[in-house]
Amino acid sequence: MSASDENSTGQTNQSPDPAASLERYELLLCVTGGIACYKSADLASKLTRAGASVTVAMTENACRFVTPLTFQAVTRNRVFTSIWPDMADHDSKHISLTERADLMIIAPATASMIGKIAGGIADDLVSTMAMSACGSCEMLIAPAMNSRMFSSPALQANIKTLEARGVRFIGPNDGRLACGTTGPGRMSEPDEILTAIESLLAQTPPKSNLA
Ligand SMILES: Cc1cc2nc3c(=O)[nH]c(=O)nc-3n(C[C@H](O)[C@H](O)[C@H](O)COP(=O)(O)O)c2cc1C
Repeated sequence: MSASDENSTGQTNQSPDPAASLERYELLLCVTGGIACYKSADLASKLTRAGASVTVAMTENACRFVTPLTFQAVTRNRVFTSIWPDMADHDSKHISLTERADLMIIAPATASMIGKIAGGIADDLVSTMAMSACGSCEMLIAPAMNSRMFSSPALQANIKTLEARGVRFIGPNDGRLACGTTGPGRMSEPDEILTAIESLLAQTPPKSNLA
């Protein structure tokens, strides 16, 4: 059985691959509400197999596309979907998760979420974590949306604003989109995002090494 095979309970066996390039890294994978959410489950699985500890945070709209259970099963970690702590929490997850993380990844990132982060709006778990990531961990954003949305002056200005603040972007790719049109807007493939994360972190020792 390979490292990614499903077992009889529907869970995937996630023993790190031999070349565990992301071992000891803590990754915060944020998922927002677009069709490409289904690719993020594969990304979460690939990051886990590369040895990273992956914590997933989802917007309420992302939960309409894919269930938190999918991410919990592939990462074997708790999935966060709300800024409001439940009784079992003793800390504020929107702060503690970004303090612990080596990298915050938003994939897919909706036009709305990119706009919120550029505009300094923090009104849900993911946008609040993005604000608290400042000075704590780097951020990599993988946009995914309809081509016209991607080309809109507002979205392009928001991307420029964030790039000027040091936020990294990957994609989107050109291709056929879920809405039936062809053009820029497809989220980068999970393998491309994995490679980008590996090269981004290659020069940075994991925070857990410093603990
Ligand atoms: C079927 C469907 C697909 C959508 N796909 C996208 C998308 O790929 N990219 C995007 O920016 N918005 C998309 N949207 C719109 C977002 O879901 C909407 O802007 C939402 O408010 C985003 O919320 P969030 O960023 O908090 O997850 C889609 C909406 C629907 C109904």
